[in-house]
Amino acid sequence: MRCSIAPAKIILFGEHFVVKGKPGLGVAISRYAKVCVKEGSNKIYSTQLGVLEKGSKYRALFDEAIEHIEEFAGKSVCLDIYVDSPIPIASGLGSSAAVAVALVHATLGLLNVEFTKEDVRKIAHEAEKAVHYRPSGVDTTLATYGGLLYYRRGEFRLLDDLQLPTDLSLIIVNTGIKRSTGVIVRDVLGRYERIKRVAKHIYEAGREIVRTALKAIKRGDKKLLGELMLVNQGLLWSMGASSKQCDELIYKLLDLGALGAKITGAGRGGAVIGLASKGMAKFIINELIKSGYEAFIAEPEYNGVRHINHDQLLPL
Ligand code: MEV
Repeated sequence: MRCSIAPAKIILFGEHFVVKGKPGLGVAISRYAKVCVKEGSNKIYSTQLGVLEKGSKYRALFDEAIEHIEEFAGKSVCLDIYVDSPIPIASGLGSSAAVAVALVHATLGLLNVEFTKEDVRKIAHEAEKAVHYRPSGVDTTLATYGGLLYYRRGEFRLLDDLQLPTDLSLIIVNTGIKRSTGVIVRDVLGRYERIKRVAKHIYEAGREIVRTALKAIKRGDKKLLGELMLVNQGLLWSMGASSKQCDELIYKLLDLGALGAKITGAGRGGAVIGLASKGMAKFIINELIKSGYEAFIAEPEYNGVRHINHDQLLPL
């Protein structure tokens, strides 16, 4: 049996504005999908979803990935696959990319073929393309390599020399509201067209936020990062990407002592993120869980996909 883990991700700054060519900044987080594979008879079992039968909703990603793996390895494979992924599904955290990347990595390891991380990313991205509408590639890149990613239309730059300030935790809260990225992107673009002369400034401000955030990260200025998050949220709100439930959670995070908070990804549901110093983050998460929210603390993750022993529990 061969097992690999791959991390989830959040978008720190710039979502939606990237659709018009502005930059975005994403980071991998310490929540992992674990996938174990062994020779078998095409059975897939998920701790969270149970047996994934042929033709079922979540099965397609696996079948697509296996097809591309077979093409890469030049041989056919027949596997039993075990998945354990506590990453909330359809919340903008890149859960399917993390599963795809871990699956490809574990399987290529089992097959004993030579491969690079870039091979893993490419194969997982092909599988993602088959099941998601035009994935940007941010999720598979961060699940593969970890770390911080600066991206713009057609340009992906892993910021290997940058790390978020060390006394900083990320708080992820799931609104539990599933939404369609496509619909929200269309609505935001609709508003863009209707108020173009105004929206151009909003998007330009989005670009400046990413630039200033990079400087704040270099200086380790977590207070400024929190402030920039709030300004970014204000811009996203003005373009219609937030919702009452997201806004309420953002206020809750701030009331509890977060330095900043915003939606992450498409918005109007999915996950909301907050920034807090490490000590404060523990207090905030306890309060959120006490109030019944699905929330967790995450640290930035700088290693990306890797093998682990089959009996090793997921790192937290
Ligand atoms: C969705 O995760 C991020 C958006 O910016 C859309 C995209 O970049 O394709 C809203």
